Amino acid sequence: MHLDAQDPGQIFWTHMGKSFDSGTPGTLYFDANSIGPMPCTVPLKMTTVLQEGWAQARRRSWNELDWLEQPRTLGASIAHLIGADSKDVRVTDTTSINQYKLLRYALSVAAPRHVIVLERHVFPSNRYVAEAIARDHQAQLRFIDDASQLPAALAPQDVAVVALSHVDYRSSTRLDMTELNRYIREAGAMSLWDLSHSAGAVAIALRQSDADLAVGCGYKYLCGGPGAPALLYIHPRWADAAWPAIAGWMGHADTFAFDADYRPGAGADRFLVGTPAVLANAAFSAAAQLWREVDPVALNQRHRSLTDTLIQLFDEQCAPWPVHLSSPRHHAQRGGHVTLQFHGAAALAQALVEQGVVVSSRKPDALRWGVHPLTTTHQQLWSAVQVLRQLLASGTWQDARFERPVV
Ligand SMILES: Cc1ncc(COP(=O)(O)O)c(C=O)c1O
Repeated sequence: MHLDAQDPGQIFWTHMGKSFDSGTPGTLYFDANSIGPMPCTVPLKMTTVLQEGWAQARRRSWNELDWLEQPRTLGASIAHLIGADSKDVRVTDTTSINQYKLLRYALSVAAPRHVIVLERHVFPSNRYVAEAIARDHQAQLRFIDDASQLPAALAPQDVAVVALSHVDYRSSTRLDMTELNRYIREAGAMSLWDLSHSAGAVAIALRQSDADLAVGCGYKYLCGGPGAPALLYIHPRWADAAWPAIAGWMGHADTFAFDADYRPGAGADRFLVGTPAVLANAAFSAAAQLWREVDPVALNQRHRSLTDTLIQLFDEQCAPWPVHLSSPRHHAQRGGHVTLQFHGAAALAQALVEQGVVVSSRKPDALRWGVHPLTTTHQQLWSAVQVLRQLLASGTWQDARFERPVV
């Protein structure tokens, strides 16, 4: 499509696109909001870590290879994407576990404040983690339906931490981090952002917006691979403020001193717990190498161009059918994916997948198109929307075989 050719950064985007495996021939992927594309160098990285590391160097790998450093080096390679300093970011554990660690940390720092504010319809795992903390540690949960209720929730001046999704996993609505962080800080509380649906897709300014804490999935737009470790960020003003909730040897100030007593490591290091997931980190390191080359401003522009085009195509090509945009129209208010509202989204998603257009659905009626700015082209968007149009026109998505539920 001519929009690809018109982009002044086209040479760079073509190079990036070629740095990723294109997947099954004839398939168009719009599921970077679940699992991002695989960098071509992953198989080599994995073979190297298995052969040179595990099979040959074995225990000596801890000294001879970079295994112990990876939570730091991986964090450093993505820090610019989230507007953070390298020293404040680690890649480790899962998003849910990091959410737990940082909620507990915020409760320690902010004591005797004991209230966690969170969105009622947040990604379920985030809610479950907070519920379990509330049961065990007498933290109290206060739910808000949306960010407009935040000032009222903060009013009693008892809030320790506000946990927010930067981008909603269903509608892709993106919150204004700068404005909300200001309210939160003025009320004496801390912010904890989940960047799962924005990191690697759109520009994020954690430090500039004065965010306190953040987590985010490594396996979505960041392309760390299935089950990849997650990111964790802490503002340096809190770096040495309390013990971590899970004190493990990798988070000790001097791991190999084997001290009897725990001493927290400096800053973000204290959130490392056990042995790094070396194989998963090896896969992530392929994407990390690519991310070092990416300018977040250019990435953001590329994502805007792609998703604006996708919305325009939906408007133009799908007007006769009851498909409605449920994501915001303005890019600054949107995250990585674009969501259509459609009664029958689950069946339509399966029909699209059968036709080689990989999208996902969420109950009750969300059809999600996860657009990866490093691999998606405008041409692919055009082709995919033609398939959508044909399915809507023919009505074949209503076939009984599309009724069984899939993930
Ligand atoms: C917004 C959000 N937060 C958290 C998670 C859970 O992440 P993890 O499986 O790494 O704990 C997900 C998973 O899809 C998510 O979408």
